[in-house]
Amino acid sequence: MSEIDSLKAQLKSLQDKALGLFAEAADLQALQDLRVNYLGKKGELTSVLKGVGKLPPEERPVIGQFVNATKGVLAEALEKAEQVLAAKASEARIEAERIDVTLAGRKCPQGALHPVQQGLNEMTAIFAQMGFEMAEGPEIEDEFHNFDALNIPQEHPARASHDTFFFNAEGEDEAMLLRTHTSPVQIRAMQACVDAGGEPPLAVVAAGRVYRCDYDVTHSPMFHQVEVFKVDKDVSLANLKGVLQHFLSAYFEKDVPIRLRPHYFPFTEPSAEVDIGCVFCNHKGCRICKGSGWIEVLGSGMIHPNVLKAVGIDSTVYSGFAFGLGVERLVMLKHGIPDLRLFFENDVRFLRRMGA
Ligand code: PHE
Repeated sequence: MSEIDSLKAQLKSLQDKALGLFAEAADLQALQDLRVNYLGKKGELTSVLKGVGKLPPEERPVIGQFVNATKGVLAEALEKAEQVLAAKASEARIEAERIDVTLAGRKCPQGALHPVQQGLNEMTAIFAQMGFEMAEGPEIEDEFHNFDALNIPQEHPARASHDTFFFNAEGEDEAMLLRTHTSPVQIRAMQACVDAGGEPPLAVVAAGRVYRCDYDVTHSPMFHQVEVFKVDKDVSLANLKGVLQHFLSAYFEKDVPIRLRPHYFPFTEPSAEVDIGCVFCNHKGCRICKGSGWIEVLGSGMIHPNVLKAVGIDSTVYSGFAFGLGVERLVMLKHGIPDLRLFFENDVRFLRRMGA
């Protein structure tokens, strides 16, 4: 065989072998390696070209064309194989990344307000709608605001009934304490009004934590109260009863009957405890209301003239009503919760049932 024919045969078999390998290449990387192997500077085609030097000069262009043609065939085949593999790779990727939209979503648990806070918000919102302004006072109080100014002087028997937590305030004239009720906010709000050179009318709602050394099914050493009061000219017991009636019906979301029962608080005169028709038996009499059909819900009365005097409001011109209620107690009645301690144990099963 002549030299040129042998070269042509070599090229032909190289091309056949390469085309076979291109078709079998498993991925783009394998194809890239084949490209280098065949068309690269040190590739197979180049080594065939080395034999061209042995040819007589007139035959060289002939074989040159032949080599170029082979190159063209191989380059084209590589390109096609690349396209096929690239398409396969992208299909595989799409398949792998496919999202199953029918899978159930992951739940993102959401927190909520504690049932006591929910109740407190509901209650203060009702008073805010009636035009009462929000006020606040400190949980650590002095004896003046918690007792003296509320007409509970030292040695007054009412102090004993408050089961007060005192701080050890050695050397201080006045002991500090955890407030036993929200009534000191009455004093602070009236003082603030007078100090600012203002005068009544004053209509205030205050809510917050109070503390008493007491613990059983219906008592917790920390609980919440809402305090409401109004001072103006000609404020009467009828105004008190009207506000109570509206509030209690709004909170319990039904027309609840109410009654005022004479009682004693040092800071109100007259004083009354307020009962509502039992929400469990609809006023008929059951175990919870002990057959009476009534349930006590809060303490109230007309602000004692001594209280107005203590803050410098003229009690011959102004009068007022006040009441204070236990938030937990009202939430328990509204939702039929049997044990006050459930509020503070933070058992999520209870909290979830209460929508928290
Ligand atoms: N402060 C009283 C208590 O805690 C409730 C109350 C407030 C009574 C205002 C009358 C007027 O028991």
